[in-house]
Amino acid sequence: MKIGIIVGTRPEIIKMAPVMRECENRGIPYFIIHSNQHYSEEMDSIFFNELELPKPHYNLGVGSGLHSNQTGNILIKMEPILVEEKPDIVLVQGDTNTVLAGALAASKLNIKVGHIEAGLRSYDRMMPEETNRILTDHMSDFLFAVGPNQEKILKSEGIEHDKVHVVGNTVSDSLFQHLEIAADKSQILQELDVKANSYFLVTAHRASNVDIPAHLVELLGLFDKLHDKYSQPIVWPIHPRTKAKLEEFNLEVPSYLKLSPPIGYLDFIQLQKNAQLILTDSGGIQEEACLLGVPCITLRENTERPESIEVGANVLVGRDADKALSAAEKWLSAGNFSWENPFGDGHVAERIVDICLGSEPVEAEDIIA
Ligand code: UD1
Ligand code: UDP
Repeated sequence: MKIGIIVGTRPEIIKMAPVMRECENRGIPYFIIHSNQHYSEEMDSIFFNELELPKPHYNLGVGSGLHSNQTGNILIKMEPILVEEKPDIVLVQGDTNTVLAGALAASKLNIKVGHIEAGLRSYDRMMPEETNRILTDHMSDFLFAVGPNQEKILKSEGIEHDKVHVVGNTVSDSLFQHLEIAADKSQILQELDVKANSYFLVTAHRASNVDIPAHLVELLGLFDKLHDKYSQPIVWPIHPRTKAKLEEFNLEVPSYLKLSPPIGYLDFIQLQKNAQLILTDSGGIQEEACLLGVPCITLRENTERPESIEVGANVLVGRDADKALSAAEKWLSAGNFSWENPFGDGHVAERIVDICLGSEPVEAEDIIA
């Protein structure tokens, strides 16, 4: 059994790390292909270093580009590697262009495809990731679903029952493996001069929020209103896409917004854990906030992670400042939070590798803790 592991962006590196570690620990032959969709040090190599991951065996160096250009380049560069390596299965994680291209390249070569985080749906076809998810699911032989919601969705789309495996989300493995290390090592609160539980944390990078000038202005307006009411510092480790758009649209950022470049995983865990509130349009951060017990305000009209809303950890506000203010008020006046964990028990990669090897996975009864 030889496994091909494909990554391309920050969240894929973080969420695939536990699978790489599991292959390494069990001595399973595997290789890593990195598309290099993300390439800046703080979006890429920082995570390989911090998470002590092996260097990718292949780096396709595709970089940024328009969707078809980027996807097509990955396909073209991936094919000869898969032909040469002949893996028994290729694993992809999530919903990026790298995922779609990796799954398609393998599928065309009749190599089995395993999709980690299968079955997520926002039902928003304007979102490039939604197309990537649907196509990848329908090309996959192993669909590693996070929970019963995703299992139901995949079955309703006609995907055969025996291809779907409910395993949880590897985001829980990564988070639980690094929480203590982050608490020990990170000095990020001191570096940013903020105190635990007295700042809000923001991230934003969805095309629908940051690529349209009026939408980015609306987001800045939402932060203004939040600051007017609470006078809290707002920490914003800014995604390179958003930074480029602020510059392109000539938008000023007020000084209460503590902008920083994207930061490493350990520091980011520490920042999330100690935030009073998280405001984000990220998929992974909605999950991590829920796992860390920090309330999340999602700057989107929809989410493919409805579980965090169902357990009471997350609320959708789009770019509506009044909705964000009333969510903040509700949570800040409550003070104490606890909810169920719908995202996994920290042993998800073990199950995925067991299933790839054809052995019985460890008991799944703890997935919905
Ligand atoms: C991509 C994924 C998105 C995922 C996100 C994680 C797709 C369609 N989008 O979005 O699903 O949530 O990654 O962060 O696959 N840039 C840099 N350095 C980098 C990477 C990007 O400066 O290392 C800048 C470039 O200006 C680039 C822009 O960010 O044009 C967008 O990068 P791209 O990979 O196209 O999309 P993301 O917004 O990062
Ligand atoms: N993250 C990080 N540093 C940052 C912002 C995010 O390490 O400055 C991590 C975060 O903990 C999560 C992942 O990156 O694991 C989320 O990535 P992103 O928001 O870029 O993508 P998405 O999850 O929306 O696809």
